[in-house]
Amino acid sequence: PDLGQIYNLNDFEFVARHTMEKVAWAYYSSGSDDEITLRENHLSYHRIYFKPRIMVDVTNIDLSTTMLGCKTSVPFYITATALGKLGHPEGEVVLTKAAAKEGVIQMIPTLASCSFDEIVDAATDEQTQFLQLYVNADREICQKIVQHAEHRGIKGLFITVDAPQLGRREKDMRSKDIADLSHVQGEGDDADRSQGAARAISSFIDTGLNWKDIAWFRSITKMPIILKGVQTVEDSLKAVEHEVDGIVLSNHGGRQLEFSPPPIQVLAELMPILRERKLDTKMEVYIDGGVRRASDVLKAIALGAKGVGIGRPFLYAMSTYGVDGVVRAFQILKDEMIMNMRLLGATTMDQLNENFVDVRSLNRY
Ligand code: FNR
Repeated sequence: PDLGQIYNLNDFEFVARHTMEKVAWAYYSSGSDDEITLRENHLSYHRIYFKPRIMVDVTNIDLSTTMLGCKTSVPFYITATALGKLGHPEGEVVLTKAAAKEGVIQMIPTLASCSFDEIVDAATDEQTQFLQLYVNADREICQKIVQHAEHRGIKGLFITVDAPQLGRREKDMRSKDIADLSHVQGEGDDADRSQGAARAISSFIDTGLNWKDIAWFRSITKMPIILKGVQTVEDSLKAVEHEVDGIVLSNHGGRQLEFSPPPIQVLAELMPILRERKLDTKMEVYIDGGVRRASDVLKAIALGAKGVGIGRPFLYAMSTYGVDGVVRAFQILKDEMIMNMRLLGATTMDQLNENFVDVRSLNRY
């Protein structure tokens, strides 16, 4: 269909399912095991209702906010997803170009199909990019990556902490080993790189990564350090103790531990505790997984998230319509957000708080 007939992010998924290469679709869409966590990530948002306020002047709506001190036009960002060239021959730079047009922050994955420098080079001077890091067991390599990123102007280091081993994504396994994807990739270096990357995922990642390593990261970089893949209140509090700059409540989009809880549930439990202990200003709390509508974004912001990561929907938009598709995805979310804010009776991100949401059904199934 024509891009004008795409009305929401689910429409991109529908088109992607029917037009993408099977192996690429399987890799992007899959979750681990029976995909319970994958589904619950999204469904848990359905158990939160709004508490809309009336008779508020909602003429001017401002969606802008900051993440790690960087300005952004919207409270959502493009989270890191590996192997962009499976979906589009130009890979991650498609997302970079779209992000530039709409003022959206992009997180660059360690396992991108494009090289790190290609993705940074594709960005404008005003654009903000973060780096997602899979910690290499070879700390010399790791240090080089981190320091190079800082040198290139990356504004935040998101260390993935939920993937010491790759989860079982059976849809992906069935569709064929990811290592057979060279024909999708085209010829040359990229094909080899992506084959190697996917295969290497479980081999180069440091299974020994632990809390003591945070001090080491601090010693090698001045970038803010954020742990991506925190799944409990307990570990969130530990993250505060270790003085990280932020956390991402995330279960890797339901691709790692099956029955890891939906992040929005963890957020709703965590924020009152952080507030009560006056720790809510110590670090920024981000969230990702299952966000498909602006209402999902606003619920997370109301519950205390500083920003919301979105993965698959942007991959599907990229794979089906390229830069224009991703731009459209951003615009759809912005339009939905403005409408939702008006109907909610809030005009800025700062105004959104827990009084705008009813979470009484969140833990009832
Ligand atoms: C991911 N994710 C991910 N995370 C990470 O830290 N490093 C990575 O290389 C990847 N790669 C990756 C590939 C694909 C195809 C997907 C779908 C996801 C996880 C990602 O950052 C994020 O946590 C989820 O995608 C969020 O869930 P949604 O928005 O996809 O539902």
